[in-house]
Amino acid sequence: MADMIVTIDGPAGVGKSTVAHRLAERLGAAFLDTGAMYRALTLAAIRKNVPLTDADKVLEVLRASDFQFRIADAEMTAAIDGQDVTAAIRTPEITAQVRHVAAAPMLRAALVDMQRRFAAEQDAVVTEGRDQGTVAFPDAPYKFFLTADVDERAKRRKRQLAQCGTEVDITAIRYDMIERDTSDENRSTGPLVPAADAVMIDTTNLQAEEVVDTMMEHIKGERHGYN
Ligand code: DC
Repeated sequence: MADMIVTIDGPAGVGKSTVAHRLAERLGAAFLDTGAMYRALTLAAIRKNVPLTDADKVLEVLRASDFQFRIADAEMTAAIDGQDVTAAIRTPEITAQVRHVAAAPMLRAALVDMQRRFAAEQDAVVTEGRDQGTVAFPDAPYKFFLTADVDERAKRRKRQLAQCGTEVDITAIRYDMIERDTSDENRSTGPLVPAADAVMIDTTNLQAEEVVDTMMEHIKGERHGYN
């Protein structure tokens, strides 16, 4: 396992990816966007016409496919069986469907396994998702949980989608976010909940760089050698 693991959890649109990526750069660590794994499995199952509610069949898809996740620029790229799906996993359709995979305990267990294998190959890793500090890496020395007002999160997600050339009505984004938060918070396995030892950061009025600075202060305060 990586010696240095930083977990960042929080709801949709809170800025986890941006912050995790920048923090990883500052620490010289690898960056893992675990949402990309849930998205990629959802897409793989849809492409194979497997009903997302049939977890056994989706698990077969997972076992039979070759998933690759790599860091490029500010995001994680994803490929399924050698085909790049980085953009395809971020469409509103996948966003709307991913909750089926996220809610299935056996699929979560398989993906947590994938996350641990990824971390095992790195010296240091910053990983972001919903259950990184609670389930995937409960012994991580540094844990953060980000929150932000839902209106601000919807604005951020709209901006992010626009940068990828997708225009979506902000009311629809906001509605979808609340629905996804509710589903993430209420599932029985790996729910969206802060680890008891996570540092809480409200990012509503903070720029990404300020969030990273706050995290660095915590990390440097507790351990030397990272600056
Ligand atoms: O962070 P994101 O929007 O890319 O995540 C996509 C979905 O995957 C999200 O609806 C919740 C789920 N997810 C999860 O259940 N656990 C994780 N560790 C990461 C994502």
